[in-house]
Amino acid sequence: MKRNLLLLLVFLAAIQPLRADEGMWLPALISQRIADMQAKGFRLSAEDVYSVNQASLKDAVVLFGSGCTGELVSDEGLLFTNHHCGYSYIQRHSSVEHDYLKDGFWAMNRGEELPNRGLTVSFLDRMEDVTDAVLKGYDTSMTEAQRDSVVRVNSRALTAAATAGGKGLRASVEALYYGNQYFLFVFKVYRDVRLVGAPPSSIGKFGGDTDNWMWPRHTGDFSIFRVYAGKDNEPADYSEDNVPYRPKKSFKISRAGVKEGDFTFVYGCPGSTKEYAMSEDVRYVSEFSDPQKIALRTLRLDNIKKYMDMSQAVRIQYSSKAASVSNAWKKWQGEAKGIEKNDVVNVKRDYERRFKAWAKGTRYEGLVERLDSLFNRRNPYYLAYEYYTETARTIELLSFASSVRNNLENPQALANTAESFYKDYFRPIDEENFVALMDAFGKNLPEDFQPAYYKEKMAAYGSAQAWADDLFARTLFIDKDKVLALKAEDSDKVEADPALEMYDAFYDWYNEDLRPVINECNSEINLAYRDYMQGQMDFEKDKAFYPDANLTLRVAYGHVEGYAPADGVYYYPVSTLKGIIEKDDPNIFDYDIPQRLRDIYAEGGHEDQPVCFLATNHTSGGNSGSPVINADGNLIGINFDRVWEGTMSDIVFDPEICRNISLDIRYLLFCIEQIGGASYLFDEMTFVD
Ligand code: ARG
Ligand code: ASP
Repeated sequence: MKRNLLLLLVFLAAIQPLRADEGMWLPALISQRIADMQAKGFRLSAEDVYSVNQASLKDAVVLFGSGCTGELVSDEGLLFTNHHCGYSYIQRHSSVEHDYLKDGFWAMNRGEELPNRGLTVSFLDRMEDVTDAVLKGYDTSMTEAQRDSVVRVNSRALTAAATAGGKGLRASVEALYYGNQYFLFVFKVYRDVRLVGAPPSSIGKFGGDTDNWMWPRHTGDFSIFRVYAGKDNEPADYSEDNVPYRPKKSFKISRAGVKEGDFTFVYGCPGSTKEYAMSEDVRYVSEFSDPQKIALRTLRLDNIKKYMDMSQAVRIQYSSKAASVSNAWKKWQGEAKGIEKNDVVNVKRDYERRFKAWAKGTRYEGLVERLDSLFNRRNPYYLAYEYYTETARTIELLSFASSVRNNLENPQALANTAESFYKDYFRPIDEENFVALMDAFGKNLPEDFQPAYYKEKMAAYGSAQAWADDLFARTLFIDKDKVLALKAEDSDKVEADPALEMYDAFYDWYNEDLRPVINECNSEINLAYRDYMQGQMDFEKDKAFYPDANLTLRVAYGHVEGYAPADGVYYYPVSTLKGIIEKDDPNIFDYDIPQRLRDIYAEGGHEDQPVCFLATNHTSGGNSGSPVINADGNLIGINFDRVWEGTMSDIVFDPEICRNISLDIRYLLFCIEQIGGASYLFDEMTFVD
């Protein structure tokens, strides 16, 4: 009896997933998860999710550009992604006469679709475990550098073989589990991708940075593109003769809607996570890196916002820059809080104590201690490096000076660089950022870690303000005419400019004083992490480990669910048009909706129009634009964000709090019809219910 009970307990412990809904799984290995997915409501098979022999859902999912996800929704190459993923392309087509960012854009037929130079979408052809081939010739007596070169040479051979003979093929070998495993990914890359539709920013970016990373959310964060191919359906450069790409698979669309508890599954490309990091690594993030970078970005954002509020022209110049500065700034705040609230550092320390006890006498003995001391050695240097990237490297004039130097021999490139720089440059912002950042640099970074150049300048000028005054008065880069008049012979003049001098001095400091130590530590950390990863897998034999995100295709599954961010508060998982009207305020830029939307609402009958929903899918940056799929494999939404209180999910996933935010597909359809007047697009979509 006792023995049976014990067996039962062991059995239960083995089948119990450690944390519900955590994980971003490799599609090629989805057969290992499919029973759990089906137990939670999924009604398709592993082959339906990923197959190399037949069309499967993976054939309808793409890497959009170089950092987002998109999905095919028709047999004629129609693609959905986020508005913020298409943003820069929409911006490039915008001018004062046609402000597509502000007013939206809708092609009314194929001839009106707009080509986008440089935009690609990548379809995954296949992925396979190539660990043995990658490590061929490696033996454990080799140094880490020797191992790296074995990996590099073997990987190059594998990718060359995988892409030989195919049109538009791209292949890469990616390390998983810190290099305990390697996978080959082969993509077919299409490079004629045209803009079909985008809502006005007051819908596509509704809530702006105020609502970013937050719930309740009401952003219509979508844009629509079409993939074109040569007549043979293969990738081709842009040409009028190209035809809509016929995908192997496209998503059918469900209009049945979502309710709390429904199974959901996100198929996309999360960028980067570190779920298996050790305590010192996490402590550095939450106690040093996040807070200090937040403080530095607050300085910049305050300056930018001050001038954006004063002038519409500056708002246009800096809205995209401000969005990218504030996006990580806000995420880090949620992340640091989440790490603290979950006491992650102590939880990890406790885990490490148990690991160490278990590791005695094994090859893992001493590993945690080694990592600990490596982080302690590296972190002050790493913090200085982060100061470099968040201060000197963000002064716009300095980076511009460096690109002018790089283009000095090429008049056309020089002119282009200068045009695009001055179009969006507002000197008072840059100057005030310079002063605030150089001030903070000296105050916050320990003196031993400050470059001699910095100390000399501060001693000579007496203040960052005086330094800035002099630099901005003397630099030629502030003057567009002077820059446009530069010739290859002017190299000496360019080199002697105080802006370039400062750019170089900071770079040299990073390159000579910081980089060598950081690289040396990182190389040892990578090696130790590889062992530590394997060690954790050996230590917890019954746990299913998913590899950290690295922008490769993953499956995350869970269900629609609200959450309780604080005592006494519960957030429902669905938002509606009523909430948009509640937030609507013509005096607040982020909440000023198009008049058309007010009018439609006033007609009545649209109060319950769904807009966004929450689910427990484990996602990360890069999952933006990912299809959100129901139990039958049909499209119900587009992923675009996470909730602020759960942004620590890149380091630790708390199933109570971590939620992804998706656009309800029915709001996208509503906008196409009611705002864009482009319901002709429905003809090529397939609706299932
Ligand atoms: N937070 C989302 C992501 O990380 C959306 C960012 C774009 N929106 C914005 N208001 N900045 O990409
Ligand atoms: N907004 C993110 C993206 O652009 C998604 C996230 O971080 O949850 O990929």
